[in-house]
Amino acid sequence: MPFPRNQWYVAAYGKEIGSEGMLARTICGEPIVFYRTSAGEVAALNDRCVHRRYPLSEGNRDGDTIVCGYHGFTYAPDGRCVAVPGQTRIPRTARVPVYRVVERDSLVWVWIGDAEAADPQAIPRAPWLDSPDWVTVRGMEPLAARYELLVDNLLDLSHETYLHGGYIGTPEVAQTPITTEVDEKAGVVYVSRRMTDVECPPFYARSTGIDGRIDRWQDIEYHPPCLYLLHSRIAPTGVAPLADGDDPRACHAEIVYAITPETETSTHDFWMVSRDFAREDEEVSAFLAESNRTVVLQDVRALDLLEKVIAAEPEGYQELSINIDTGGLAARRLLKRMVEGA
Ligand code: FES
Ligand SMILES: [Fe+2]
Repeated sequence: MPFPRNQWYVAAYGKEIGSEGMLARTICGEPIVFYRTSAGEVAALNDRCVHRRYPLSEGNRDGDTIVCGYHGFTYAPDGRCVAVPGQTRIPRTARVPVYRVVERDSLVWVWIGDAEAADPQAIPRAPWLDSPDWVTVRGMEPLAARYELLVDNLLDLSHETYLHGGYIGTPEVAQTPITTEVDEKAGVVYVSRRMTDVECPPFYARSTGIDGRIDRWQDIEYHPPCLYLLHSRIAPTGVAPLADGDDPRACHAEIVYAITPETETSTHDFWMVSRDFAREDEEVSAFLAESNRTVVLQDVRALDLLEKVIAAEPEGYQELSINIDTGGLAARRLLKRMVEGA
């Protein structure tokens, strides 16, 4: 399936783009160079010099301009060429395409598609990521698999029991049925699994300090194509949120993924874990960062393998789906609709 175009994608964490240097990243098959101007804005240019297509990211910055590392064509943040070597006349067509960028919730979003159609209001939010009330650990792993496989993976968490045993998986995750809802108008998939009086997996036992049996909620919100939110609630069993919605005795983790296609068979797997407990505890931060990275790498290994299987298989292979796949199938349908609509 082609990429959904006319969509916002997470290109980077804001911190990855500094006031010096450049970041080269391919998004939906488009090579892009990102850099931060002296005004603090992120510029995003097509990473191909108009002269002989040398990647601009291999060149040098000169203030707010980029100087091509091959013959010195020089570009402003708006993509326009402002200097060429050996002549004063700059060809009128000397400019590279630029991309709309919005920095929000610590993420750098880039618009892939027709610039006129870009609406920053349409960017889904993840406010925990830069809120002072939450502490976040994060990373990004390259995935040698198509983004659809990661969507499938994240929308069905029953795989935690098998692929992530000893980290976030316990038998009850696979045993507990899910409920799935689709908001067709907003284009959001909700999958929820609420477990009562269950074992606490090591990931949460060690980080929350809650002893004994727990109630564990996993409420997923997928905003296709890119943003995936998992609202995770861990509480001593029997402890419910208060009538006003306040939930002081529970621990909450907001697990955020940005699923950004790199090429047709590779993906940027951005992962973040925000928490409202043990906020000052650096050891908990280190433990969660390390554990979540391990969990993500377990998925990466599985999905890289699946990509190889798909590449080698004959046409017409038929998958078999069951109840746990309801969310994933709904996501596929919304993605298909986006591809066809754009
Ligand atoms: S390729 Fe960039 S200046 Fe020649
Ligand atoms: Fe997983």
